[in-house]
Amino acid sequence: MSIQTVVTTPFADQKPGTSGLRKKVRVFQQDHYLQNFVQSIFDTLEIPANAVLTVGGDGRFYNKEAIQVIIKMAAANGFVKVLVGQHGILSTPAASNIIRKYQTFGGIILSASHNPAGPDDDFGIKYNTSNGGPAPEKITDAIFAKSKTISQYKIVDLPAVDLSSVGVTTLDGFEIEVIDAVRDYADLMEQMFDFAAIKRWLAAGHRLQFDAMHAVTGPYAKEIFGHRLGASADCLMNCEVSENFGGGHPDPNLTYAADLVEIAYGAHAPDFAAASDGDGDRNMILGHHFFVTPSDSLALIAANAKLIPAYAKGLSGVARSMPTSGAVDRVAAKLGIDCYETPTGWKFFGNLMDAGRVTLCGEESFGTGSDHVREKDGLWAVLCWLNLLAATGESVESLVRKHWQIYGRNVYSRHDYEGVPTEQANAVIAHIKAQFNSLPGQVFGHYTVKTVDDFSYTDPVDGAVSTGQGLRILFACGSRVVIRLSGTGTEGATIRVYLEAFTEDAAQQQMDAQEALAALITVSNQISQLPQLTGRQQPTVIT
Ligand code: G6P
Ligand code: ZN
Repeated sequence: MSIQTVVTTPFADQKPGTSGLRKKVRVFQQDHYLQNFVQSIFDTLEIPANAVLTVGGDGRFYNKEAIQVIIKMAAANGFVKVLVGQHGILSTPAASNIIRKYQTFGGIILSASHNPAGPDDDFGIKYNTSNGGPAPEKITDAIFAKSKTISQYKIVDLPAVDLSSVGVTTLDGFEIEVIDAVRDYADLMEQMFDFAAIKRWLAAGHRLQFDAMHAVTGPYAKEIFGHRLGASADCLMNCEVSENFGGGHPDPNLTYAADLVEIAYGAHAPDFAAASDGDGDRNMILGHHFFVTPSDSLALIAANAKLIPAYAKGLSGVARSMPTSGAVDRVAAKLGIDCYETPTGWKFFGNLMDAGRVTLCGEESFGTGSDHVREKDGLWAVLCWLNLLAATGESVESLVRKHWQIYGRNVYSRHDYEGVPTEQANAVIAHIKAQFNSLPGQVFGHYTVKTVDDFSYTDPVDGAVSTGQGLRILFACGSRVVIRLSGTGTEGATIRVYLEAFTEDAAQQQMDAQEALAALITVSNQISQLPQLTGRQQPTVIT
């Protein structure tokens, strides 16, 4: 194989966000753009002899082209082998599993998660380390620094590799192994959950509806729910992967998974409905005419974890991102285990899991997972719920309501304002920051401001400090408003407003979240002046 050294010049915009580098496909299609970023990753790493790289993506437009480039660059940069998902496809949690199971040096995952796909839409790339998790900030910062000074990249002259069938191709000593990652992943799930009990639950006439949203989990769902658990074909919808995700927005929430929501709230609603996102790491859980917030889902799984074989011995600890509600904190307190509060981004959980400090982690952004891999895991969360339903014989709604009776309810909602011009979004943040000194002690209706700050986090394992992670307005009654800008968008800014109020009052526990939070929303707008500064009266998405 002849290694070519190609002269290039830096792009200024290759700074990884919350979860890797995400840009429009057209940005990635510029000459050298992808190559520069991949070389910046490789230049940041100390690649040992005999290193193997895992490569795969969510199957979106440009996935195939990018994988061929990465394979050629891996060969030129000292890797001896790549493990690639069949057709170049690996869900994000399956990729994490492959890195761990086959102990590869690391992995490159091609995904823009739940963002729409297609020639005019989004693409993304991120590097995961040998623990299977997203690279921590010190690595992503170093990659960005390299990308600003890069002057050349290395690539070999190889014919395009056929990724359609499982097997090994050897070219001049460099191996490309195409693997069936669905089987590895399904095997892992079967070891963790009580498949026999779930099978019985389904066979007893309970109904499940799963929506893969035309994205990566389709083949996994068919194997796990269909083949291994015996669910009928009509339980599985949108399970064919398409390069533009069926033209949809594969984000499993009440707005973008509208078809599933209609079924779950319809006349023939199933007992349990769930969806996963573009790359398979997110989940949405619904019962019969009932929505479970991701924060409650995490808390409930933690509280009942012993009913799941993989966690029968209990949990070492739990973690949640700062904007996620404190519901899981209450469970941790009762269980007598530690609960960590991290910035937004799954990468912050990796150290805690590696150090054995936490077993379960979750985020309000529809991410839940455990230390079985180092990514959040959509299908794993669905199986947690199925296992709990099968083990208890309860409905989703009764499980949640009983949970609230025991622990109280953290009434919670997130309001997103998408596509806001960056200057306006920055103005909202600046307006709140300007009140940092004056807000404490101020009274707004029933709410008295206790403290205001910009969240910062010191990693308890390696001492790394992350600042500027979101504005928190904490009220004396325990309610809070968190405001931050999304780090995963590709156009303009998205302002996220997270609202949370705690209640032990049984009557208030029955209330609709928007109703229960109405007064807090008014106060939030008063403080942030968001409607005035952005001209937006209503959020784009409410979850
Ligand atoms: C991705 C990350 C999550 C994060 C979410 C929202 O899914 O993996 O860890 O919570 O994006 O991030 P954002 O910055 O858009 O709020
Ligand atoms: Zn995702």
